[in-house]
Amino acid sequence: MPEQFRVHDRIVTYLDSTPWPSGVVQHVALAPPPDDVRPVCTQSILVLIHAFPMNADMWEAQLESAPAGWRFVAPDLRGFGRSDPDGMPAARAPSLNDYARDILALLDHLGVDRAVVAGLSMGGYVALALVRLAPARVRGLVLANTRAEADSEEAKKGRVEMLDLLARNGVAAVAGHMLPRLLGETTRVQRAAVQERVRAIAEANSGGGIRDAIERMMTRPDSTGLLPGIHCPTLVVASDEDTVTPLDQARWMQRRIPGSELAIIHGAGHLSNLEQPHDFNLVLQRFLETSFGG
Ligand code: MLT
Repeated sequence: MPEQFRVHDRIVTYLDSTPWPSGVVQHVALAPPPDDVRPVCTQSILVLIHAFPMNADMWEAQLESAPAGWRFVAPDLRGFGRSDPDGMPAARAPSLNDYARDILALLDHLGVDRAVVAGLSMGGYVALALVRLAPARVRGLVLANTRAEADSEEAKKGRVEMLDLLARNGVAAVAGHMLPRLLGETTRVQRAAVQERVRAIAEANSGGGIRDAIERMMTRPDSTGLLPGIHCPTLVVASDEDTVTPLDQARWMQRRIPGSELAIIHGAGHLSNLEQPHDFNLVLQRFLETSFGG
């Protein structure tokens, strides 16, 4: 498989890979970078899957603090960030499984059999798609600010309105519409810089990537039936100012996953890892250490 590494900065390196099945080039942030002497396949791997309408840049604070013995792998999902647009035949409808299959191809490319998979919101939908498609490759799960249910009829109506907003006014309008939903009150009132960072990440995405993601989310299947069959170590993360996936929903999901834990991040809305990076990292690192020994 063709590959090319480009050192981006101190900790983050972009790997060009050619995932199955469509030949799109996927850009992936790796921490530590591959000039680290240990081959990827000998390390514990955590795959970080981003939310909508974000990209792998939202995981910067987690990439910077990957604990010893771990390599963190954060792809830009197809059509987001620096990854290629879809390149799918127009005849085939976009499916959330496309993202999940790209991640499986990436693991193959890295020579990784099993990985811990962490997804936030849309990233959590993709993590559950991975559980459905290839449970044996999921060593552990972090389901952050996400839900297992499919879209309700009302949510689908909201998606159609967002597609219309995108077609009429472009990516910046979608970013502007999403911002108040993505961030908690504490962040909105006290942290203008975080708000601007989130806006910049969202606006860096392509209109095609955003459109296809909306279609993928609104056609995703219900995953609630999967929950009782999840037997790998699982951490559910929720935050107290999240209005998109409220605490009760996280508690409901956590109760259905045998042996899972729930962690609540305070003073954060939907993007808990960006809004309270220190607390999110503590919770994540504790989970990795207690479940996988470091
Ligand atoms: C996300 O943060 O990924 C989105 O809010 C998910 C969604 O719209 O369902």
